[in-house]
Amino acid sequence: LLSACTLGGLAHAGMVDDAVKRGTLRVGMDPTYMPFEMTNKRGEIIGFEVDLLKAMAKSMGVKLELVSTAYDGIIPALLTDKFDMIGSGMTLTQERNLRINFSEPFIVVGQTLLIRKDLQGEIKSYKDLNDAKYRITSKIGTTGEMVAKRLIAKAKYNGFDNEQEAVMDVVNGKADAFIYDAPYNVVAVNKAGAGKLVFLDEPFTFEPLAFGLKKGDYDSLNWVNNWLHQIRNDGTYDRIHTKWFKK
Ligand code: ARG
Repeated sequence: LLSACTLGGLAHAGMVDDAVKRGTLRVGMDPTYMPFEMTNKRGEIIGFEVDLLKAMAKSMGVKLELVSTAYDGIIPALLTDKFDMIGSGMTLTQERNLRINFSEPFIVVGQTLLIRKDLQGEIKSYKDLNDAKYRITSKIGTTGEMVAKRLIAKAKYNGFDNEQEAVMDVVNGKADAFIYDAPYNVVAVNKAGAGKLVFLDEPFTFEPLAFGLKKGDYDSLNWVNNWLHQIRNDGTYDRIHTKWFKK
């Protein structure tokens, strides 16, 4: 045991070390989450988190490779080494934290609602939706879905593979409300909503978003957390945040 300790140079130093040796940081994401990761008209993946990850890769001196992965299977994909890290607007939940490690949060969000226009006044909070006569939608595998099932358990729930379809169900009047992270709904209410949706914008959950790493990889966690500390204080974070969230 003692000799193993003195052979520190042979110790596995984790995903950041691997990325540096490879020359590429591979990040798993589901690019459907506006304005964090989304596909533009030219087919490029852009967004707030994408810019953070570009800056992270630059600090490592490596190229960034985005690995598109369905949100539902993103933790298993990390655990089976399809990529090095999850960067997909992932809420740090205690349940997920039993399976993976999380960096420090890079932003805090919460659940909000997009409701059918004609329910304005009738539905003032998520509590008013907790009735068997209402139908709510969200995306499969997300905290939107978990919160719907936990806090709005009496309503009928319908999960979709992507956010856009779930929003369209409300726009088309097939469902009454879409439950999702506030930043997504800010964009969606104007994009898909166009006078058909009302945004109940008061977040009713506390959801830190963080990067997901494999368990046990404390060297990489140290690197990522120190990097976050640096960019929060050297202007990098503010510059990127202003670019995507400026009113
Ligand atoms: N924050 C929510 C969650 O962790 C939604 C994230 C969705 N991310 C995405 N890339 N579609 O479940």
